[in-house]
Amino acid sequence: MPDNVEISTLRLPRHIAIVMDGNGRWAKQRHRPRSFGHRAGQKAVRATIEFCLQRGISALTLFAFSSENWQRPQSEVGALMELFLKALDREVDELHGYGVRIRFIGDLSAFAPALRERMQAAMAKTFANAKLALNIAVNYGGRWDIVNAARQIAAAVQRGELAPTQIDERCMAQFFCLADLPPPDLFIRTGGEQRISNFLLWQLAYSELVFSDVLWPDYDADCLQRALDDFAQRERRYGKTGDQVSANGSRPELK
Ligand code: FPP
Repeated sequence: MPDNVEISTLRLPRHIAIVMDGNGRWAKQRHRPRSFGHRAGQKAVRATIEFCLQRGISALTLFAFSSENWQRPQSEVGALMELFLKALDREVDELHGYGVRIRFIGDLSAFAPALRERMQAAMAKTFANAKLALNIAVNYGGRWDIVNAARQIAAAVQRGELAPTQIDERCMAQFFCLADLPPPDLFIRTGGEQRISNFLLWQLAYSELVFSDVLWPDYDADCLQRALDDFAQRERRYGKTGDQVSANGSRPELK
């Protein structure tokens, strides 16, 4: 492979993870209810998926509803659930046609049966698609993911399938959500806050972090391109020196 091809592929994130923050403030600026902001946020979701498809980015993980979001006013939670339901009914067939594999990550047991069934149907229908892995985190928390992995490992030990001495990072990594995908190369958070908020805690260990003040409904292709440009400038060292990286390249996490 010629050098320039390798560099250009290495500088494009394979997997982008996004905390879509700022819908509520966007609506407030317009003297509208928060649900209005979430509906506008949905359009930005759509544009982001199209952007990833056009650019050949192979995985996109969106934080749509955290395990802590249940604490929001019931009316807002209800509006979000309705939005998810409608989005599933409206978008799945088209995304399937584009070759998008839809996956919901998080504790789905907390959702109403109708919504859960739609989520499972969307996952089953698009399972074999390979153009873009679209992961939607709902009732998800990074700590939940770690606890869930620990529970599965404990059960494997109890069944005698795994010895405690065999538990290392590589072994643990198999039990997390999205274990089959490379970890996010690029993490984006919109809306001005600079925190991870219990998103993919394990998986983000070596991600490049980009924070934007733009509120999610206004986050468009230009903003995404700026994040990609920023990413392309970063030197990912994974604990090595800059000289070592220049000599040998990095990305030890390549799968
Ligand atoms: C955070 O903004 C946003 C959410 C909790 C919901 C995200 C949901 C969408 C973008 C809707 C569509 C999603 C899909 C996948 C169909 P916030 O409400 O915390 O905003 P604020 O910080 O300004 O209050």
